[in-house]
Amino acid sequence: MWVFGLVGCYIPLHSVSSAFSARGKTRGVFQKAVEWGIIPTAMPLLETRNLSKTYRLPGGIDVPVLKGVTLSVEKGELVALMGASGSGKSTLMNILGFLDTPTGGSYFFDGADVSDLGPDERADIRGRRIGWVFQNFNLLARTSALQNVLLPLEYRRGGRAGRAAEREKARELLAMLGLDGRMDHTPAQLSGGQQQRVAIARSLVNDPDILLADEPTGNLDSVTTVEILELFRRLNEERGITVVVVTHDAEVCDYAKRTIHVKDGRVEAGGFGGAAR
Ligand SMILES: Nc1ncnc2c1ncn2[C@@H]1O[C@H](COP(=O)(O)OP(=O)(O)O)[C@@H](O)[C@H]1O
Ligand SMILES: [Mg+2]
Repeated sequence: MWVFGLVGCYIPLHSVSSAFSARGKTRGVFQKAVEWGIIPTAMPLLETRNLSKTYRLPGGIDVPVLKGVTLSVEKGELVALMGASGSGKSTLMNILGFLDTPTGGSYFFDGADVSDLGPDERADIRGRRIGWVFQNFNLLARTSALQNVLLPLEYRRGGRAGRAAEREKARELLAMLGLDGRMDHTPAQLSGGQQQRVAIARSLVNDPDILLADEPTGNLDSVTTVEILELFRRLNEERGITVVVVTHDAEVCDYAKRTIHVKDGRVEAGGFGGAAR
């Protein structure tokens, strides 16, 4: 497949990166060369260069959270983003998923520089190309599973109710995720794992290029966690959907083909495809 061809031609370059990474300072030189465009790279789906995010608190105090993140994610990858609580994972994901904007550096999505998009453009890309999955599911209460899945489609069409074909698609997604008999249940009538499956169905309804999942198993027991991780793996392998999963659980990394380690607002290792885990 062309996707793998693309990944294939990208790997040797990043093998060089991982070889360098063993040698401390040289890695910094390599990353700088990539950031400055001296070393050409193939086109990843997501790419950040020296990305930073500083929050300004009321009173004018600056809180630097991301301090120069350079990473890339290829089409078709399943990547875990790992790091301690407070290391900046959610801040990074929110930028990658067009919920927030960086204060410095660059973000490229599918080859286009999206660092400085306005709110409407970000909402448009987010709606069409990103599937979001959150720790607390973010489902509308008192709304059926089916209606929750239909919401992104209705949002895109200015709040108009779903067409028959869209309802059919939502039903198919819920059925694929094992929720055949649960379409009319509200979130309160579903288990945590079932709620997360509804949220995953909702994230897929617009045929996104990528699923971004921020600690999707954080509220689930260990058995359900494995089920949800298996689901991400299936979606990645069978449907070719690119997935980035945030976690501080080492088990999640067993399901990923690559782990990006974030520490104190920086990527410590694994920022590029082909780099060592
Ligand atoms: N809106 C905000 N304003 C100020 N500080 C924030 C804001 N959001 C996050 N932070 C701070 O940024 C740091 C990283 O947060 P976060 O990205 O949520 O980390 P993680 O997801 O890895 O636990 C934390 O110290 C947090 O307090
Ligand atoms: Mg977080």
